[in-house]
This record gives sequence, C-alpha cells and structure tokens, in this order.
Amino acid sequence: MKITQFEVLDSTNSYIKRNYEKLDHFEVISTNHQTEGKGRLGRIWLDDGDSLLFSILIKNDIKMENISQLPLVVAMVIHETLYPYIPDLLIKWPNDLVVHDKKLCGILIESISSHQEIHAVVVGIGINLSTQSFPESIKETATSFFLETNQSICSSLLIKDITSKLEQELKYLNQNKSQFVSYSKKYSFLLGKKISFIKDSKIMHGIAQDIKANGNLLVKTSHEVIEISTGEVHLIK
Ligand code: BTN
Repeated sequence: MKITQFEVLDSTNSYIKRNYEKLDHFEVISTNHQTEGKGRLGRIWLDDGDSLLFSILIKNDIKMENISQLPLVVAMVIHETLYPYIPDLLIKWPNDLVVHDKKLCGILIESISSHQEIHAVVVGIGINLSTQSFPESIKETATSFFLETNQSICSSLLIKDITSKLEQELKYLNQNKSQFVSYSKKYSFLLGKKISFIKDSKIMHGIAQDIKANGNLLVKTSHEVIEISTGEVHLIK
C-alpha cells in the first residue's frame, strides 16, 4: 500500500482528482492541513490541525452498480476500526460516524468520470482525532477520538488499517458477500427515529424504517414509504 504524506494540500480529494492517472489503485494521499477541505453537499471541511485527513483512490474493482453502496461500506470499515475504542460509535446514514449525535468522522466520495463512464472513485475521510475543544459554533455537534477515549492513536496505523479493510471489503462487495447492510442496520443511529429530510426540494418528516440492499434509506411518512438515496438527513429531537 502506497501512502504519500503532505504537510499542506488544498484538499486530498482534489489532489487525487487532479493526479489520478499517475497514481496507483488504492494509493493513499494524506495531509496534515487542508486549505480547501471539502465536505458533502458543497460544504467546507474546516481544518483544526488535529484531524486525520486522507483520501483513497479506487481505480479498479468498482462496478457502477456498487457505487451507491460505497458510502455505507466505507462507514462500516471505519466503524469496525474505531468501535473497539469507542463502543458508543454509530453510523448515521449515509456515511457519518457519530457518538451521541456528535460527529467524529465525515466521508466524501467523489467519482472521476467522463462521457457517463466512471474512471475512478475517490474516498475522502476526515476523522477528528486529537481535538481537545471545538469552537463554540460546533461544540454541540462535533466530537473527537481524544474526547471520547482520553487516548491518542497512531494515525498512520489507522490509515493502513482502514485502507486494507476497505480493499478486502470491496472484494466481498463484488462477490455479493458483503455484510454492509446488516452491519449498518446493527449500528445505525437513525433507524426507528423521527427524521427530517429533503425530497424534491420539500422538507419532509418520517420515521427511518430500513436500509435497502442498494444502500438507500426507507422512510415511513404519514401516508407513504419513501426511498432516499442521498442528501441530508436530520434527527428530530
Ligand atoms: C462531510 O462530512 O461532509 C464529509 C467530510 C469529508 C472530509 C474529508 S477530509 C479528507 C478529504 N479531503 C477533502 O477535501 N474532504 C475529505
């Protein structure tokens, strides 16, 4: 496994997207700081200097029909890696890792495509590792490995562990042997809870009911069951 470490990059995802042709399958790009870290849904991912920031390039082994499953597969692999340290860690569909609804890890998956053909996929992972206190604005919604465990952890071992588990899991996914649906249900933060979500530009409410084999979430509203494939989901407290 090749891991290249930088001191500063704009974004590990953007770096891979610019250079993917000369990078290897499952090559990892990691950095200590990002100046333009990207989050899901066009948001920014703030760099507090205490996070693990890395991206993995997947060039082969990825079938079009598996792309929608990838967010939960990546979330499962990270959950498996961190759960021994943080027993209250849960997966918040589609791919956040939370402890008591405070975010510990975010995942941004981007595909590199042209003419409707996917050439490669970039899996970007940000884990709050050693942050001791968060700014007031995100104090109630963010947590870190250190805050949850009072320990530090070797970041390069974590990267190696997550990346090799993902490589293995993609093989299982291609053989239809992946356990990611049952795993995501077992450790789901949302299932059975009242949530709000956006569908066709409308804010809707319902109970998160199930996760389908394709990775989509089923939500029961007052009069129908709706399948959501992506987007933002909030817990109603
Ligand atoms: C989210 O929760 O919105 C996803 C956040 C993903 C952040 C990581 S940090 C490493 C990689 N590079 C980026 O620019 N973003 C991802």
